[in-house]
Amino acid sequence: MEEEAVDVSKGVDVSKGEAAKGEATLPGPREAGAGAAESPGEPLLVVEKLVKHFPVKGGFPIRRTVGAVQAVDGIDLTVHVGESFGLVGESGCGKSTTGRLITRLLEPTSGSISYRGRDIAHASRKQLAPIRSEIQMIFQDPYSSLNPRQTVGKIISGPMEINGIDPTGGREKRVRELLEIVGLNPEHYNRFPHEFSGGQRQRIGVARALALEPKLIVADEPVSALDVSIQAQVVNLLQQVQKDLGIAFLFIAHDLAIVRHFSQRVAVMYLGKIIEVGDRDSIYKRPRHPYTHALLSAVPEVTLDGGAEETGRERIRLAGDVPSPISPPSGCRFRTRCWKSQDKCATEEPPLVRLSGNRPHHLTACHFPEAPTTEAREEDIVLDPALTALEEGEG
Ligand SMILES: Nc1ncnc2c1ncn2[C@@H]1O[C@H](COP(=O)(O)OP(=O)(O)O)[C@@H](O)[C@H]1O
Ligand code: SF4
Ligand SMILES: [Mg+2]
Repeated sequence: MEEEAVDVSKGVDVSKGEAAKGEATLPGPREAGAGAAESPGEPLLVVEKLVKHFPVKGGFPIRRTVGAVQAVDGIDLTVHVGESFGLVGESGCGKSTTGRLITRLLEPTSGSISYRGRDIAHASRKQLAPIRSEIQMIFQDPYSSLNPRQTVGKIISGPMEINGIDPTGGREKRVRELLEIVGLNPEHYNRFPHEFSGGQRQRIGVARALALEPKLIVADEPVSALDVSIQAQVVNLLQQVQKDLGIAFLFIAHDLAIVRHFSQRVAVMYLGKIIEVGDRDSIYKRPRHPYTHALLSAVPEVTLDGGAEETGRERIRLAGDVPSPISPPSGCRFRTRCWKSQDKCATEEPPLVRLSGNRPHHLTACHFPEAPTTEAREEDIVLDPALTALEEGEG
């Protein structure tokens, strides 16, 4: 396994000292740090042609590279200031790798990652230091992502210390404020992670991310390890944080239900590629890509009393498994499971473009897309009672 990991969230290796000497800043048009404030709607993160291939080793006695896992294979995406952007797809399609590239826990094979106008794709630790605190990550597993030997106070204040953040009134006061913001008791400052439930631990993870006053949070399936009843509360908290603090989110999920609730724009990934992207309504109400249709229909139909319900809608069952990202199908990667596939799909990769009938900024990669009039299966989407209640509460 290849890992060029440096853990930003735990703040272990930020080379603060070097940054303070004023050496090595990132190349690009703008200076790092304060003063370079962006307004909402401006691009904050621009990812272009991003590729991450993990080498596959084989052979004996000399191990050589015999292939590559094409985890992320040429994706483009933009996250604007204060926006929540959803990234959705089945397990293994490359979502976490994308998140780890953007937070630079991994270095890309090729492509560019431009953050506030500076390309950080291959920036060194030293060059990344000034922006480390601005891009934070919230992880899926609230159990393994918190150090069990540290108190909550230490977990949240640690990154502040490492990054030299000295809030007025001191770090402890700020930690207590943060605990309050995320809905925890500030008096629990001295408790340890094991004293909290999964949902509460995820709130601690959110407080830790907020401690550094980030501009962008990459939330990698932040609620999928939690009980359904708790999921809605944490989604609600994140949404509140996004709105109140104007933090941009890249919200990663395998589930379209949760992303719909949270994101203004959504991209759908399949085998390392983005196959459809657009504003929420385009994706949920007028999807063009067969895979997006399948994902929308694939969510089990559950009634509030937990029973199954006949919706009268066709449920699309995808044939076969996701192909291996080591040798993805030629042409369109979805073709081995697509009911609309024709010869052209095997020979020509469909470009991600605005098809006729798509609204502006709604892009689809398909040679034989579904008609834009195909009505949404929206009522199939939100299924768990807790999320439904949350949406209704929103009015
Ligand atoms: N460090 C690694 N080394 C080799 N292969 C990896 C590594 N990390 C992820 N992969 C592979 O890359 C593909 C995408 O993984 P991942 O980004 O975790 O997908 P997702 O988050 O969508 O489930 C998978 O086939 C996975 O096995
Ligand atoms: S390009 Fe062809 S195989 Fe791919 S999704 Fe469209 S119709 Fe299906
Ligand atoms: Mg993942």
